[in-house]
Amino acid sequence: MLVDHVVTATVATVRAGQRVRILDPACGDGRFLVAAAEAVRQAGGVAELTGVDIDLGGLHAAGLLGDVEAIEADALVHDWGSRRFDVIVGNPPFLSQLASATARDGGSRFGGGPYADAAADFLALAVRLAVDDGGRVGLVLPTSLLTARDAGPIRCEVAAHATMEWFWASRDLMFDAAVRTCAIGFRRGAAALLTAAGPSPTIARSAGADFVRIEPVAAPAATPNDHWGWLIADSHGLPPVPPIHAAGTVADHALVTANFRDQYYGLVGAVRDDADGPPLITTGLIDPGRCHWGERSTRFAKQRFDAPRVDRSTLVPFMQRWADRCLVPKVLVATQSRVLEAVVDEAGAWLPAVPVIRVVPNGPESLWQIAAVLTSPVASALIAEQSVGSGLSAATVRVSQRTLGQLAWPAGALTAAVGALRSGDLAACGRAVDAAYGVHDETLYGWWWDHVSHAAADRRRYSGAGDECG
Ligand SMILES: C[S@@+](CC[C@H](N)C(=O)[O-])C[C@H]1O[C@@H](n2cnc3c(N)ncnc32)[C@H](O)[C@@H]1O
Repeated sequence: MLVDHVVTATVATVRAGQRVRILDPACGDGRFLVAAAEAVRQAGGVAELTGVDIDLGGLHAAGLLGDVEAIEADALVHDWGSRRFDVIVGNPPFLSQLASATARDGGSRFGGGPYADAAADFLALAVRLAVDDGGRVGLVLPTSLLTARDAGPIRCEVAAHATMEWFWASRDLMFDAAVRTCAIGFRRGAAALLTAAGPSPTIARSAGADFVRIEPVAAPAATPNDHWGWLIADSHGLPPVPPIHAAGTVADHALVTANFRDQYYGLVGAVRDDADGPPLITTGLIDPGRCHWGERSTRFAKQRFDAPRVDRSTLVPFMQRWADRCLVPKVLVATQSRVLEAVVDEAGAWLPAVPVIRVVPNGPESLWQIAAVLTSPVASALIAEQSVGSGLSAATVRVSQRTLGQLAWPAGALTAAVGALRSGDLAACGRAVDAAYGVHDETLYGWWWDHVSHAAADRRRYSGAGDECG
């Protein structure tokens, strides 16, 4: 049972006679506290239980009010003073800030962005309330917290003060059909900080209702937005990304821009097959290294087109300015695929549909380099890893303006890769870019090539040949 698993892993070693202060900051009926007390008692220790809940009805009904220091409060705003705990366990509420019924008032008080799940705040609180030297935290959390953009600052703070020790992931949907669940254990303290300089400790992992052990993983040195997607990347079919030699990011070489609703609606009515204007490039027309405009039909705004062009004479002034900014040499990147799909618009002749992302190089020498970097196993795996767990579909990688801009740029030379891409040899481009990252990994390459060579079929399978969204 998950409660016992979390509690056993978190309570860990207790000495005979040791006093163990245990907190559940959202304790409900107190089941984590009861299990933790039992684990401490069995180890010969003495448990002191503190349970917090905005509604103590659960503790009352369970007949635990006498055994537990019960605090009726919002744990996230409660004045904790200098109180600290040896063990903090629980299953805090998952309140997605996107669902208005559960949205909290105001932003995260713990440094998260406006859409950070309340569970991220509970994680930050728990790590702050753990005793400095060796306090342990074990919480059930939504899997989306591993990669959610707005939880990034909280992951950063947690990693700065605590070492992740164990991880469990549900294989199926538990608790709530809309939320995948995981549980993570941390140990706070000086030891955690010491390991930052030394070799990464490995994290014990298990999965599913039967808590089957799976391969431990080591935390990578650094990840964009401090994501923890590497904890579940393999269970989503992603190959591990080996250490890479990086020199800055894509954002050092280019301006990455996404289009949104304004551009979508600004283009509706201006797109025709017989228009005299720039070709409109939809996600469906982009495959790795190849744009199929004019060869493949596509959909835009609920209509099918064979060779869609934009009639600029019908665009309103802000869309005219947008078109001017777009009609420059650039790389266009598809957003609903299993691997990155990038094409070069050397003439600056194409307009991107929504949600195609445009990458405009700082200088002409970077144009093909950018497309080459994006046409590589390492780039695809890095992007895939940081969006894994963010949605219920593991099939498509979430490519965004932000993730593309933060993508590591390879430290090595890209001449061979650019030559290969220009000649249409995607396989050689992928190998050459990986070499520039200092990576030679056949598993990673095989994963990528499988999707590159089936890009069109993949897209039909996973995005249902859907419309470009608004
Ligand atoms: C998902 S339940 C978990 C309860 C318990 N851990 C269990 O497994 O039965 C979440 C609990 O958090 C409480 N809660 C919600 N927001 C809270 C807050 N800001 N501070 C303290 N408790 C809160 C709810 O009242 C509920 O009892």
